[in-house]
Amino acid sequence: MKTKEEIYARFEEMDRNASLGGGIEKIEKQHAAGKMTARERIEMLLDKGTFCEMDKFVGHRCHDFGMEKKQIAGDGMVTGYGKIDGRPVFVYAYDFTAHGGSLSESNAAKIVKVQQMALKTGAPVIALNDSGGARIQEGVNSLAGYASIFYQNTIASGVVPQISAILGPCAGGACYSPALTDFIFMVKEQSHMFITGPDVVKTVTNEVVDKETLGGADTHSSKSGVAHFMCNNEEETLMSIRELLSFIPGNNMEDAPMAACSDDIHRVTEALQNVIPDDPNLPYDIKEIIAPVLDNQYFFEVQPHFAKNVVIGFGRLGGRSVGIVANQPACLAGVLDIDASDKAARFIRFCDCFNIPLITFEDVPGFLPGTQQEHHGIIRHGAKIVYAYAEATVPKITLITRKAYGGAYIVMSSKPTGADVCLAYPQAEIAVMGAEGAVNILYRKASPEEKQAIIQEYEEKFSNPYRAAQRGYIDEIILPRDTRFKLVQALEMAHNKSQSNPPKKHGNMPL
Ligand code: HXC
Repeated sequence: MKTKEEIYARFEEMDRNASLGGGIEKIEKQHAAGKMTARERIEMLLDKGTFCEMDKFVGHRCHDFGMEKKQIAGDGMVTGYGKIDGRPVFVYAYDFTAHGGSLSESNAAKIVKVQQMALKTGAPVIALNDSGGARIQEGVNSLAGYASIFYQNTIASGVVPQISAILGPCAGGACYSPALTDFIFMVKEQSHMFITGPDVVKTVTNEVVDKETLGGADTHSSKSGVAHFMCNNEEETLMSIRELLSFIPGNNMEDAPMAACSDDIHRVTEALQNVIPDDPNLPYDIKEIIAPVLDNQYFFEVQPHFAKNVVIGFGRLGGRSVGIVANQPACLAGVLDIDASDKAARFIRFCDCFNIPLITFEDVPGFLPGTQQEHHGIIRHGAKIVYAYAEATVPKITLITRKAYGGAYIVMSSKPTGADVCLAYPQAEIAVMGAEGAVNILYRKASPEEKQAIIQEYEEKFSNPYRAAQRGYIDEIILPRDTRFKLVQALEMAHNKSQSNPPKKHGNMPL
């Protein structure tokens, strides 16, 4: 009979071995590639000493291609739960040191287990991806594993926040799990996502492309819009995930955590009086208005490199978390195009899912004209913004800083589409279109001198916020210096807002 000491010692040895994943040699290889192991990543991500690992001894059930002789405890997947800033989270991390982090039937079941626990308990799920993809030796069993993960991703969407970090390869259909989550983080020159790699691309299309150009962090952060954050290294990625979570609740039934606010809510910001140029056709950086009004002047921008004509991100007002959506006059004059519409709509929906009030800063001359946009469906994509705003039941506060023209005015959380509070600066211009365009249509045959006079008349009549204010489409005209307190007041007023849309299975968003 074994003594207790022997039994405990055996367990401790097994546990130690399991902690090594694919073994010391593979760990060294991982480090040599500049990457951390799955467990090191989790340790860095979570509050110290809070990680509880589950299923550490799970193995695969494959007997093909000699796999029966290649059992690694945990099977290339580290899963469990812990805390971030004292709040519970679930995490799963592909362990590249074991079978290249490839997805087996067994380790997919481990993922599904934490996904289901997260859903039951209402806690975010964080996925740390670094994987060779489907476990080739397992064939369809691996694919079924992916399918069950995607299913859980979809069911959990809008119930608990889901965050993906891509810390190595992520190829083929495997990309669709991160794509189903709320936010994707990538690391420069370390992470790659593509449906088909460079070799397949060459075979099928004869196009020669390297993996960085095809699916690196820069590509997905600036061109495709697949990634939301591009970080310089793994540490920065993990710290940014922690920060992102500080703005969002654990699930759709909670409010985001309140932060202590040491920044005076009455703070008057004199510099805001001069951000908008006198000439309405000159650009300015909307972030020079956004950041100064937020608590501690801090704005946590999301997707800063993609569709820069719209700015999205998180901040706090009086300690309360808010989602910011803003037109950016410094890029393409702030017009809405396909990418900007997609970017804004998706973010609006995220905030609405998770009870985060929306603050919209509007300065938009219209939708981008042209065949390129029309042929790619600006009608369909632009409709997403109005759909997302109209459907959102969180407090919605809009501030028109300057231009609010035509359909773009309507879609950017206008009063008739459901904004709770609509503010405007005195320089706001709310009209069907700019004066010149309007006069060219209405008075096509007029002489240039006559046109000039009518343009002036039009500008006096319409290029201001007063017509809209007369009709109640603007609730209040404010001076830029008072923006912070006015937003805080509106937010406080709308905090207890309770609104629900008619019951339905789900709407039919113009995708
Ligand atoms: C089983 C795999 C594997 C896989 C890697 N390995 N990918 N084992 N299934 N998919 C194993 C390797 O055999 C090796 O095992 C170890 O992991 C490390 O791999 P290396 O090739 O030595 O590492 P590296 O040189 O860094 O290259 C990494 C890699 C490469 C770029 C990821 O391994 C690779 O191209 N793998 C195949 C990728 C792929 O085509 N996957 C299928 C994609 S399609 P040993 O025993 O030597 O340590 C897909 C469909 C998903 O995933 C569909 C979902 C719906």
